[in-house]
Amino acid sequence: MNTEYCKITGDSQADEAVIARAAEVIRHGGLVAIPTETVYGLAGSALLDDSAKKIYAAKGRPADNPLIVHIAYPEEAERIAYPDELYGELAKRFMPGPLTVVLKKRSVIPDTVTAGGDTVAVRCPSNSVAHRLIEVSGHPIAAPSANRSGAPSPTTAEHVRADMDGKIDMILDGGPCEIGLESTVIRLDGDGACTILRPGAVTAEMLGEVCREVRIAPAVIEPALAEAIRPESPGMKYKHYAPRANLVLIDASHETFVKYVRSHASGKYGVLSSNEDAGAFTGGMALLLGPRGNAKEAAKRLFSLLRRADEAELETVYAELPPAEGETLAYYNRIIRAAGCRIVKPGKE
Ligand code: TXA
Ligand code: MG
Repeated sequence: MNTEYCKITGDSQADEAVIARAAEVIRHGGLVAIPTETVYGLAGSALLDDSAKKIYAAKGRPADNPLIVHIAYPEEAERIAYPDELYGELAKRFMPGPLTVVLKKRSVIPDTVTAGGDTVAVRCPSNSVAHRLIEVSGHPIAAPSANRSGAPSPTTAEHVRADMDGKIDMILDGGPCEIGLESTVIRLDGDGACTILRPGAVTAEMLGEVCREVRIAPAVIEPALAEAIRPESPGMKYKHYAPRANLVLIDASHETFVKYVRSHASGKYGVLSSNEDAGAFTGGMALLLGPRGNAKEAAKRLFSLLRRADEAELETVYAELPPAEGETLAYYNRIIRAAGCRIVKPGKE
């Protein structure tokens, strides 16, 4: 299939024409990659069983992993699910934006979209292109991240093209994503409490302004914490967002990290490093995460840097393990999976 590539230029008339065509593709059961504020999504109608099947096929995604359904306005959740009062409160505070809420689903959403489950994950993106496409198509839109299953999520249209060219109808290039990591996914537990199933830019602390209690699902942090080093062949289910390069994740002080890299690195390697610290690693490629301590900037760059490591054909990438809390929890959650949940503790190998 020939994948049509369209740039969103900022010229509102031209952009509306592109969006109108993309909306036609969606209504006819085709697939369009779209920018969102988190990562690029692979969009298809959430009302058509066939579109969901095409999404799974294009990504090579196992059919037991449900898709997020995107709506133009928070109230539209009523059309596809049974939102409760807490959903309304969360929507007021965080939508449109990087929050996905799991709700009991209505029967208009085919089982293929929810992988057979009776719940549907609902998100209302703030990106204007995503918003307009949903609105103009008139369909709620199923959209997983637009990467090959298992690869780092795409944060530019070029990343999408590398993974999806020839497999989908259209790619809308709206420039790089603002946030760079996927939305926070939560389940509502009743009683005003919620559980974070996947951390993102809406943090536990922020959710705590609305929810009585915020829990974090054990799988967000584990299985990495229990063992210092996992065996070389971790179960595939632990591996996600992974570059082809061997990602070596190190749990140590910054000084020990620097020493470890200097004494162990060989071959073609790179280091995920703050701008200020990059000078310490002269033998390898600096993969710059931005200013030291800037969690937002690091989150925005992570996936792009993992892809750059592969473009440069690096064999190994070294990275520091961030704290599993607050603003760095989402980064932590992605990077432990990208490393197949193998964490090196120097001195305890
Ligand atoms: O930021 C995002 O959420 C991006 C953009 C494109 O909107 N989308 C995204 O979709 O990350 P995907 O398919 O790559 O990840 C969806 C996550 C998966 O971890 C999936 O297991 C979970 O959401 N999920 C989807 N439906 C669910 C449900 N009904 N119950 C629990 N988890 C669900
Ligand atoms: Mg994904």
